[in-house]
Amino acid sequence: MIDYYSMSAAEAEAALPALAELVIDAVDSGASIGFLPPLAEADALVYWRDVVVAVRDGSRILLVAAEAGVIQGSVQLGLEKRANGQHRCEAMKLFVHRRARRRGIARELMAEAESAARAAGCTLMLMDTRKGGEADQLCQKLGYEAYGEVPGYARSGNGELHTTVFYYRKLG
Ligand SMILES: CC(C)(COP(=O)(O)OP(=O)(O)OC[C@H]1O[C@@H](n2cnc3c(N)ncnc32)[C@H](O)[C@@H]1OP(=O)(O)O)[C@@H](O)C(=O)NCCC(=O)NCCS
Repeated sequence: MIDYYSMSAAEAEAALPALAELVIDAVDSGASIGFLPPLAEADALVYWRDVVVAVRDGSRILLVAAEAGVIQGSVQLGLEKRANGQHRCEAMKLFVHRRARRRGIARELMAEAESAARAAGCTLMLMDTRKGGEADQLCQKLGYEAYGEVPGYARSGNGELHTTVFYYRKLG
């Protein structure tokens, strides 16, 4: 059975090694999540410590999927703090460990992210991803609306620039 829950800053801090392993696996698998492979553990830990700070200050919600205590995936919800955008959330850094893919975990994490967004008063969800990647297919499958794409937006692990697609969904 897989449990989906939001982690407090203290829980995330305690889980730093597992979270680091998760992001290293995602980068190794070619994910476009801001890093280029190989991602050193020290850099992964620095990254997650910044996430812990954001969770602590309330600008980020961290949702994880855990199976028998093992973290298999996560997604983050960025909350807009500026006055004119507090109805807006961004789903970011969605990744599922390669050992646990194609079992519906990302789909469920996105459903949890949408519930958390609604609970935080958000009515609009944003997300962006590499064109043609697994997450792009997921966004389409979930019915997100593409509102544009930018060629050459981010660099892939192989050094090539790739197109990023920008999506939104109105949360009813
Ligand atoms: C994208 C990712 C999170 C999907 O995780 P997952 O748990 O395997 O996805 P799910 O099992 O929930 O799949 C849901 C839907 O996504 C799409 N999808 C997921 N993986 C896919 C793949 N390899 N090829 C094509 N479609 C895929 C399918 O539409 C799938 O629905 P289906 O199983 O009914 O066909 C995972 O592949 C991953 O971590 N990739 C690397 C990280 C990344 O690129 N993140 C995006 C940054 S925003």
